[in-house]
Amino acid sequence: MEKEFKVTPWDVSGNVDYEKLIKEFGVEKISDKLLERIKKHTKDLHFMLKRKVVFSHRDMNWLLDEYEKKNKFFLYTGRAPSGPIHLGHLLPWIFCKWLQDKFDVEMWFQFPDEEKFLFKEDLTLEETEKWTKENMLDIIALGFKPEKTKFIVDTKNADLMYKEACKIAKKITFSTVKATFGFENDSNIGEIFYTSMQAVPAILPSVLKKKNIPCLIPLGIDQDPHFRVARDVYPKLGYYKPAILHSIFLPSLKGDAKMSTSDENSVIFTTDKPEDVKNKINKYAFSGGQPTLEEHKKKGGNPDIDVCYQYLKMLFEEDDKKLEKIYHDYKSGKMTTGEIKNYTIEKINAFLKEHQKRREEARKKIEKFLF
Ligand code: TRP
Repeated sequence: MEKEFKVTPWDVSGNVDYEKLIKEFGVEKISDKLLERIKKHTKDLHFMLKRKVVFSHRDMNWLLDEYEKKNKFFLYTGRAPSGPIHLGHLLPWIFCKWLQDKFDVEMWFQFPDEEKFLFKEDLTLEETEKWTKENMLDIIALGFKPEKTKFIVDTKNADLMYKEACKIAKKITFSTVKATFGFENDSNIGEIFYTSMQAVPAILPSVLKKKNIPCLIPLGIDQDPHFRVARDVYPKLGYYKPAILHSIFLPSLKGDAKMSTSDENSVIFTTDKPEDVKNKINKYAFSGGQPTLEEHKKKGGNPDIDVCYQYLKMLFEEDDKKLEKIYHDYKSGKMTTGEIKNYTIEKINAFLKEHQKRREEARKKIEKFLF
């Protein structure tokens, strides 16, 4: 029997069947034809597109129609500050940075600093403030252009946000969010209102510039339900529906569907030291290898369930040829589990060394990004 899975903005569990999820959410798979169309503008394709890490969308053809008519879009995504950033968080943002460079567009990045306060029992608004700043460092470190990137913090930019949120909230009923998110009578009313805050940045540049500007939202697919609800509302207020690109989740070290901060031994943080990374991968990374070296050499491993292989494919091995070789060598048993782990540790540590340096330099740059 198939294992149950669950994907909501606050909870991802079970063995996620992405094909099924696409149908449930009513989104479209990215076709080869769409990839070709994107490539016409970007010249090359990001490996996340080629490898179906970014795998589905809403209204991308409309967005490109507009772009081809010289109606440029802006990018929008976000992060609810609540704790340290891990590799899984970085995945859609690395893709966003590529989009910003290729299309030379603005990026509006929301920090809904009330979200996790409302949804989690044990977080105060004061603690969140610290995480907002810390999380900003990771985003700046990825290399977004300061002159084209704007950070909006819900509680700090409330004067801009609240009016628009009310207009959106007025057009969403309790029964809609209840059906979408499973709220109950004991859900607090902040939770029920929240989707309207996350919906605002998709129209904020249009509001400010007093003309409609297309918006593209790259996100982890768990965030799609907010926009499924909001997309029905935007046209009623006279705005475009935003286009969306969905990425799949980076698995946790232990092989669960989504890396999550709730299990310390299953997550790699951007601030982890080389030793931490080495220990965590060696100790916890779920292996597709055979129990003994002898057996491995004979039968070969299974890269499709091997967490290190997934990390290489989804984030750290940009070179298609190298990745393919690793796939075949591991599958044939030529490459051992120890070897694929060591290679992945090296790759992650090389990335983190650079990231951590840029992250420290970012402390001086925050001001430039604030709206
Ligand atoms: N809700 C997201 C989180 O939990 C944060 C977020 C705000 C977001 N706006 C967004 C994510 C737009 C994707 C797209 O981190």
